[in-house]
Amino acid sequence: MRAFAHRQRMQQMGLRREEFMGRPVIAILNTWSDLSPCHAHLRERADAVKRGVLRAGGFPVELPALSLGEVMVKPTTMLYRNLLAMEAEELLRQHPIDGAVLIGGCDKTGPGLIMGAVSMDLPVIFCPAGPMLNGRWRGTKVGAGTHTRKYWDEYRAGHIGERDMVEIEGVSTRSPGTCNTMGTASTMTSIIDALGLTLPGASSIPAMDAAHPRMASACGERIVDMVWEDLKPSRILSQGSLRNALHVDVALGGSTNAAVHLVAMARRAGLAIDLDDLDAAARRTPVLANIFPAGDALMEDFYFAGGVLGLMTRLTDRLDLDALNVTGGTLRDALARARVDDDDVIRPLDRPVTTAPAIAVLTGNLAPDGAVIKPSAASPALLTHRGRAIVFDGHADFNKRLDDPSLDIDETCVLVLRGAGPVGAPGMPEWGALALPKALIRKGVRDMVRISDARMSGTHYGTCVLHVAPESHVGGPLALLRTGDEIVLDVPNRRLDMLVPDEEIARRRAAWTPPPSNYARGYTALFQRHVTQADKGCDFDFLEAGAPTPEPDIY
Ligand code: FES
Repeated sequence: MRAFAHRQRMQQMGLRREEFMGRPVIAILNTWSDLSPCHAHLRERADAVKRGVLRAGGFPVELPALSLGEVMVKPTTMLYRNLLAMEAEELLRQHPIDGAVLIGGCDKTGPGLIMGAVSMDLPVIFCPAGPMLNGRWRGTKVGAGTHTRKYWDEYRAGHIGERDMVEIEGVSTRSPGTCNTMGTASTMTSIIDALGLTLPGASSIPAMDAAHPRMASACGERIVDMVWEDLKPSRILSQGSLRNALHVDVALGGSTNAAVHLVAMARRAGLAIDLDDLDAAARRTPVLANIFPAGDALMEDFYFAGGVLGLMTRLTDRLDLDALNVTGGTLRDALARARVDDDDVIRPLDRPVTTAPAIAVLTGNLAPDGAVIKPSAASPALLTHRGRAIVFDGHADFNKRLDDPSLDIDETCVLVLRGAGPVGAPGMPEWGALALPKALIRKGVRDMVRISDARMSGTHYGTCVLHVAPESHVGGPLALLRTGDEIVLDVPNRRLDMLVPDEEIARRRAAWTPPPSNYARGYTALFQRHVTQADKGCDFDFLEAGAPTPEPDIY
């Protein structure tokens, strides 16, 4: 009866029985929308995927999914990553789907789609949106995000004017596609590639290259065979593929956001990972990809240099070459013809972009469950620092007081933002690269130690300690810090401490009361109740790996 009704309704759309009967039904989960500029080309890419599906004998159906355009969503797309993950999982569960191509790329769409698909465990391929073309302003390479911040500081310092800013606006994000720097999108799509969930090397293809729609079509063709082979994420993902992703991430100088998303994706798959694994990978594998913000090239240069497969040829002694990917073959097969064509963009191991690691995980009495910093994009002189805390309670307080002339601050101080974590903000926005006081920028100061329970855009830079866990809103020690307390940052020894005696900390804790929750209803209330802390991946506690969800009953 149910199948009869399905066939009836497909014919209602003008399809002949022969066009869908006996063919695998392939969902194309598309995160296109008019407010996701990085995904502006994904409608055409869905058509390319369909071509491939039809050619291989499948039946493609396109299903729109939450688009999450990074810059357009308030307060942050991170608030909605888990909603996309739930949507992706349930779209695949509720419909008669045999396999899926997941199209996305802008920061949260990659991890969100993968988290949902891993939980559903149907055959899937991730089709990455691809990076936008290189930008240039007055002969200088301009990277999305990185130069937005750089030029904004120069503007605030009075070094460039409004007309310059209008010009920069028009040239720095030059085409559809994800940020062309090693921001979160490039980091996460490369990680998904390294996990084996894209066609090998697909993540590096620029969005506007003719190779990109060809790759999308190939995704459509391959997913049909994956259905017949029952090649599901649970067969592809392993501790070995996770190790590959960790080393690729740090060799890229990847975004600190990977510390949240990779943990969340791996935990969905039931794989063992914690922040120490990231720290260990970064101690062993230096930054080899010479891309902003750690380097000075862009994603288009990286593609021509050999892309993520070229990078992996530098790391073979660290990788699990037997790890499977969506082709059904191994990483060893995928690397057989890979090479590096530009040693300056993809450096050899003995000539890294920087000796500073891509990420360091800190603990101490200010971050008992961990915090992260990106030493490769920080000021070396500030990686060991002692300074007086200037504490701000939330972003509004920060904006209000930062440039107040009565604020007693100099460049040795430590800017601290709390109330910006997963529960407190909520959604852990990318506020962690705190702006510096205008007066100090005018003096030529371009970096200070900054600490928060927020995240930072992967495109940004600076000596920013992020993801402090537990966050202040749930009673983490950050909540007990006061302006004037001394803070010691010691990245070489992976420590972050406040120089406040234990008895005084205990006194402050006894006097601390949790802030009231400001959301009583709706999705945000659900989010605040169930989101886990940064070191656990900020997934919902009820969505992490567990017993499989039973298939819905059908009549
Ligand atoms: Fe979409 Fe950066 S804003 S990838």
